[in-house]
Amino acid sequence: MPTRAWFPTFIYREPLQPSGLARFNAELGNECRRLRAFDAAGRRWSAKNYPGGYTSYASMNELHRFSSTFTGLEKKLTRHVRAFARALDMDLRGRAIRMTDCWVNIMPETTAHSLHLHPLSFISGTYYVATPPGCPGLKFEDPRLSKFMAAPPKLPEARPVNRPHVTFPAEAGQVILFESWLRHEVTANRVPAERISISFNYNWT
Ligand code: NI
Repeated sequence: MPTRAWFPTFIYREPLQPSGLARFNAELGNECRRLRAFDAAGRRWSAKNYPGGYTSYASMNELHRFSSTFTGLEKKLTRHVRAFARALDMDLRGRAIRMTDCWVNIMPETTAHSLHLHPLSFISGTYYVATPPGCPGLKFEDPRLSKFMAAPPKLPEARPVNRPHVTFPAEAGQVILFESWLRHEVTANRVPAERISISFNYNWT
């Protein structure tokens, strides 16, 4: 092949652990709902900024420091983030990687999360706690989209690597990791059941 890919964009997807996910997620799901019941400031912020849903992004975004369930999740996630950084050939200069933010997102029917990236971190990701059948996945945008200028659009049958967007299905128990600058969104939930996820950021310090 005369044409080869360079400068790829990597996205990581793996189950959090080989077994015991159902029990772990049941516990996490309960804790997420308890948090929503307890976090009045978060509910107020969400009413304005996350219509129909609840996120602790602006109110309780260091859950790994305050809850043993989330500290346990942090330990499990850190292994995945290390593996991802290795796959990216990152030279972390002997520094430790550290979870800086960790927050809950509960999306009932109609809630959406528009295109965004995660500032002040190097690897970000999402862990899926509850994913009712038919709930939206995580949609990533080609980071070169703003540079395409006069490039023609892609064919409808374009190979997945050549498409401007890719959507990873949301599946309970799965971890998705990406570099924090990669823009992504969650389209509106169309099913009458709550989709629960936990988002997080890592830095190297
Ligand atoms: Ni995000």
